[in-house]
Amino acid sequence: MVNIAILGFGTVGSGVAEVMEENAVSISHNAAEDIRVKYIVDIRDFPDSPFADKLIRDFETVVSDPDVQVVVETIGGRKAAYEYTKRALEAGKSVVTSNKELVASRGHELLEIAKRKNVNYLFEASVGGGIPIIRPITQCLTANEIDEIYGILNGTTNYILTRMITDGAPFGEILKDAQKQGYAEADPTADIEGYDAARKICILADLCFGQSVDPESIGVEGISGVTLEDIEYARRLGYKIKLLGRARRLPGGHIAAYVAPHLISKTSLLSNVDGVMNGIVVHGNALGECMFYGAGAGKRPTASAVVADIIDAVKHRRARKYLGWEESGPGYVVDTDDVSSRWFLRTGSGLDVIGRAFGNVRLISYPGEYPGAGPDEYAFATPEMTGRELAARTGEMEVRSRFRIL
Ligand code: HSE
Repeated sequence: MVNIAILGFGTVGSGVAEVMEENAVSISHNAAEDIRVKYIVDIRDFPDSPFADKLIRDFETVVSDPDVQVVVETIGGRKAAYEYTKRALEAGKSVVTSNKELVASRGHELLEIAKRKNVNYLFEASVGGGIPIIRPITQCLTANEIDEIYGILNGTTNYILTRMITDGAPFGEILKDAQKQGYAEADPTADIEGYDAARKICILADLCFGQSVDPESIGVEGISGVTLEDIEYARRLGYKIKLLGRARRLPGGHIAAYVAPHLISKTSLLSNVDGVMNGIVVHGNALGECMFYGAGAGKRPTASAVVADIIDAVKHRRARKYLGWEESGPGYVVDTDDVSSRWFLRTGSGLDVIGRAFGNVRLISYPGEYPGAGPDEYAFATPEMTGRELAARTGEMEVRSRFRIL
């Protein structure tokens, strides 16, 4: 019998308790051992919960109980979650988590402790919710040199952008509705400003390229600046606007990593990843391209990934799974402004200014009542150039929007 403790009885923690109970027989079969939830730690009271008999308030009980072999951290954030994870690993217990903030910022350190103590620190649920992506990268795709990984990593922003397209309503209005329906948090900053996606792409980059990428060191741009006009221009060009996290290997051992809204072709699979769904594309030198699609958030999809990690931690109790990356040095991640792409530009400047900066460009017809060109603005796609070069060329221009094209 293996005993586990769940830290945090919120959405994910309660989902884990439910799935553990509902699928107890198959879970024990798959782990080749009985697994039982011994404790659930939360400072709040849940007198009506079917798990009330397991609820305790004090983490000390968990860390000092030699019968607890696996600790499930679903508290979130970097304070208590960090302290408890560290102490549980130091006490020789495996830890399983959905906490992308902690893995992205302290993963290297926590994995080193896990290695020293010969226990597991597993985090499949930290990226893409229920989508298997960490395990494919660290197991199924290890024959490859991975050149690039990118995708729609945040369900809230994808939901908002999808509804802006389908409803033709502006960002602020859809955000309010999304909050009312429970898709967006009361404080939506981490989602809409791209920080959540940044943590996820950094974890993916850590694993794919082998050195740590600090979410605070990469370029991050959210979707609050995306307008209906941008969406319509993109449509006319045969594209959709999606928030992407991207990481790719560059010559000389450097990598590029960033989060930004992109125009992506309607012919790509990723452009059909709509609503709260997530999609992640991996490019390996042997495999070519491969895409992972599914529910990137939500109680049960996330619990599905956490419980699979619990089973894996139980199966690897004696021989821990190798998982880890090195610390990176200065300059490992290049400045996002030095990363090249084609760009979509929308400007209030005249054709003379545009011509001086970019030569002849093919204008995208204005989405208002004057086809061909707008009454006071122009939009077009540029050739490939770095963000720095784009900034230099647009120095004189009134730029209304600029987005990378995938
Ligand atoms: N807020 C996140 C999202 C939850 O919208 O994708 C899953 O990490």
